[in-house]
Amino acid sequence: MTYDDFKSLCKDRRSIRYFDKKPLTKDEILDLLALAQLAPSVENLQPWKFHVILNEKKRHELLECCCYGNFIEGAGAFVVVTCDRSLEPKTGETLWNPKELEYSCVSAMENILLGATAMGLGSCWVSLHHGPVHDALQLPHKEIVVGGVMIGRLRRGEEPTGNGHERKNLEDVVSFYD
Ligand SMILES: Cc1cc2nc3c(=O)[nH]c(=O)nc-3n(C[C@H](O)[C@H](O)[C@H](O)COP(=O)(O)O)c2cc1C
Repeated sequence: MTYDDFKSLCKDRRSIRYFDKKPLTKDEILDLLALAQLAPSVENLQPWKFHVILNEKKRHELLECCCYGNFIEGAGAFVVVTCDRSLEPKTGETLWNPKELEYSCVSAMENILLGATAMGLGSCWVSLHHGPVHDALQLPHKEIVVGGVMIGRLRRGEEPTGNGHERKNLEDVVSFYD
């Protein structure tokens, strides 16, 4: 892959919230989650867990757990990403911020978003209320809810254009220390 290919992928990714009704296959979802697993993680601890909600009724139930995601019912799949916070540094010598377990899960989520774009699918991150999701999915105590990703097939006319990102000026967010 060239820099230009990757740039196009990044430009094509955008949050898609409404999808075609045709469901995703389990193989497509597993392919995406295999990409997620390639993400970096602190000490390669791979603290992520992926809870894939295909069932429409369950997605309806989860609506109340979303901060702003009243559209997740229409997605082909909804993946709740959790973090196993019980994991400990392997060596005991490295001191890392405990939040780095969660950061690792975020990097896996980014792979899902970019991977979905590369597969011609749409996706969007959905913020979740930790407690209600925990109850709804009966998660083990050690798992923290990091966030949700809805994934689905693009509706006709929603093909990526590479445009439409409103972003701050680069010079306003970059500092060089020469
Ligand atoms: C941590 C995080 C939480 C987000 N939560 C939501 C959400 O709850 N609902 C939603 O529709 N979009 C959510 N988004 C998507 C953002 O609204 C979106 O990325 C942003 O507006 C930029 O648009 P783009 O993704 O199309 O570039 C979230 C994105 C991130 C990274």
